[in-house]
Amino acid sequence: MKIAIGCDHGGLEHKNAIVAHLKERGFEVKDSGICENHSVDYPDIAVKVCADITSGECERGILVCGTGIGMSLAANKVKGIRAAAVSEHFSAKYTRLHNDSNVLCLGGRVIGIGTALELVDLFVDTEFEGGRHENRVNKVMAIEND
Ligand code: RB5
Repeated sequence: MKIAIGCDHGGLEHKNAIVAHLKERGFEVKDSGICENHSVDYPDIAVKVCADITSGECERGILVCGTGIGMSLAANKVKGIRAAAVSEHFSAKYTRLHNDSNVLCLGGRVIGIGTALELVDLFVDTEFEGGRHENRVNKVMAIEND
């Protein structure tokens, strides 16, 4: 699985740790930065990472900002994206099982790096359950076309 990742200045340390962790686990990672600590606008990064998913180059994405919320707001404006801002394990697992989320948004100022890595593992290791959830996800996606 190829994973797209990006962060703003609120998530740099977490993003770098996640990149190293995913590579160590054997995943291919496309890192859209930032790579040095300078202030950027999170929507610019969210758009880049989401484009890597909607183009089909990457299967899932991870975005880190201060809270995870700004990134999720921006990502969910992109057609084809289902982004979830998550800070605990249950939601990381169930947003894959029930929502088929393709972008995980984390808050570098909300959770520690250890927790972030555990949430990333749940996100990449959990498959969509389908079944009754398929129709619900389809209804969510249909809203984009209204
Ligand atoms: C940047 O200071 C901060 O606003 C951003 O990282 C994020 O938390 C926005 O939701």
